[in-house]
Amino acid sequence: MRKMSFGSVEEARRIARRRLPPAVYHYVEGGKDAEITAFANELAFSRVFFSPRICSSSNRPDLSTTVLGRQIRMPLVIAPTGFVRVVHSDGELGAARASKAAGIPIAISTLCGEPAARITEANDDTWFQLYMIGGRRGAQHCIDLARAAGCRVLVVTADVAGLAQQDRMARPLPSRVSLKEAFAFLPQAWDRPRWLLSLLRGGLEMRAPNAPPKEDGSEMSLMEAGPLLVATPPSWDDLAWIRRQWDGPMVVKGILRVDDALRAAEIGVDGISISNHGAKVLDGSPSTLSMLPGIADAVGGRIDILLDGGVRRGADIVRACALGAKAVLVGRPYLWGLAAGGEAGVAGILRLLRHGMAATMSQLGCASVAELGPDVLHPLPDFWRWNDVGVDLQSRLK
Ligand SMILES: Cc1cc2nc3c(=O)[nH]c(=O)nc-3n(C[C@H](O)[C@H](O)[C@H](O)COP(=O)(O)O)c2cc1C
Repeated sequence: MRKMSFGSVEEARRIARRRLPPAVYHYVEGGKDAEITAFANELAFSRVFFSPRICSSSNRPDLSTTVLGRQIRMPLVIAPTGFVRVVHSDGELGAARASKAAGIPIAISTLCGEPAARITEANDDTWFQLYMIGGRRGAQHCIDLARAAGCRVLVVTADVAGLAQQDRMARPLPSRVSLKEAFAFLPQAWDRPRWLLSLLRGGLEMRAPNAPPKEDGSEMSLMEAGPLLVATPPSWDDLAWIRRQWDGPMVVKGILRVDDALRAAEIGVDGISISNHGAKVLDGSPSTLSMLPGIADAVGGRIDILLDGGVRRGADIVRACALGAKAVLVGRPYLWGLAAGGEAGVAGILRLLRHGMAATMSQLGCASVAELGPDVLHPLPDFWRWNDVGVDLQSRLK
């Protein structure tokens, strides 16, 4: 596999914008409504400053850590994202190979385009993200499938309650496919030859092989499964029931409140992900990083705290770990890498994040992840506020 390097995640984002048809690019990039939360997620990291000491640099810091009982090479996980095949034909399988090479886990969505067993063959630290499509019966199907495929962790996404139509998503994605639909999509795609070739290479059918089957026993397409995930969102009772069905590590994803974190810990989950679904479901929810210190105070040490949303640099991983996260998940950055260069592009993004994290830790004099704590941060009063966004900063980040 050829090597692909990026100067920054931002560079991969720019390449993705050129390579992908607008509807696909906006599907990846878009947040809900005015995208205030999407912006706040990224901005929150830029508000956390470091407090470096002189004469204390650490050579070759050890980035490894233990998450949900397994050692991984750095505190990073590929976030579950649906409809990945529409970005590049390498899809989740390419991301699984790249994450395996980087020594980190991959979480696959219920809306993954590959059978889970093919992903676990590529990366034995595969996590299965569960949507309650079809209620408990559907969930039981997915849990059995994840177990049989050898997925190590079950991640239950609990923050989607309504259809997340976004302003940017006025144009539909290419779906499984009548030829008529494919032709309707062509005007967006004819001048994106690499993307078109990649789509054709992967086949026009958009499968959801891990979703529960339809009533007649046949497989759902991605387009059929998507809307169903909001029909039966999980309740607290469902979460407790899922806990009883799955004996491996279980994570609840989508937590933004201390009381929800405490309640999740009470039902016996092993971890939570502080997440606002990449700002895709409710604009106006707070940035995830701003919720981390309070939640870490309440449940840190009892369960593993993960965080996702807005991580764009290795230094951001250091910031999150210093504030109490065990690891972070990245969604868009890996999808931009995938769009730019398939598996090689994802590998390039993971390398970039690794180098950035190592360089930051060296500069802070931290030899290991265990040394990351409040001491490496500069206390800034009020830095959690997001509503004093400066225009300059905004244009720099967008
Ligand atoms: C294109 C896209 C699709 C996503 N699909 C899912 C999904 O199927 N299940 C899920 O739990 N989260 C999904 N997410 C949310 C991610 O798991 C994660 O919370 C989010 O991407 C983190 O923010 P970031 O993109 O800023 O890294 C999706 C995010 C994106 C960008």
